[in-house]
Amino acid sequence: MSVEAVSSPAMAEVQPGGFRFEAEAGRTLLQSAEAAGIELPSSCRNGTCRTCICRLLEGQVRYRVEWPGLSREEKAEGWILPCVAEPLGDVRLDVPCAFSHF
Ligand code: FES
Repeated sequence: MSVEAVSSPAMAEVQPGGFRFEAEAGRTLLQSAEAAGIELPSSCRNGTCRTCICRLLEGQVRYRVEWPGLSREEKAEGWILPCVAEPLGDVRLDVPCAFSHF
């Protein structure tokens, strides 16, 4: 029997702006934010430049790349790279310079 995810997409919230968007499984947080018209800092989009680094206030992510450009200590402190991070359920991010196009 195959196990398919049938739950609705997770929600992401960006603080302190309070922007919310659907954080679909299989899409990075950066991709989902952009699809919702929410601009997060980014450059390389492959987990190396650290332009997008932000703190995960709540929730969990997994990475598309084996070695995202974060140290073990940074990961432990809650820093993530949204350009290569996919949500595992609802998440809340701290991105002070984020803005919404809507
Ligand atoms: S945009 Fe370069 S690490 Fe995320």
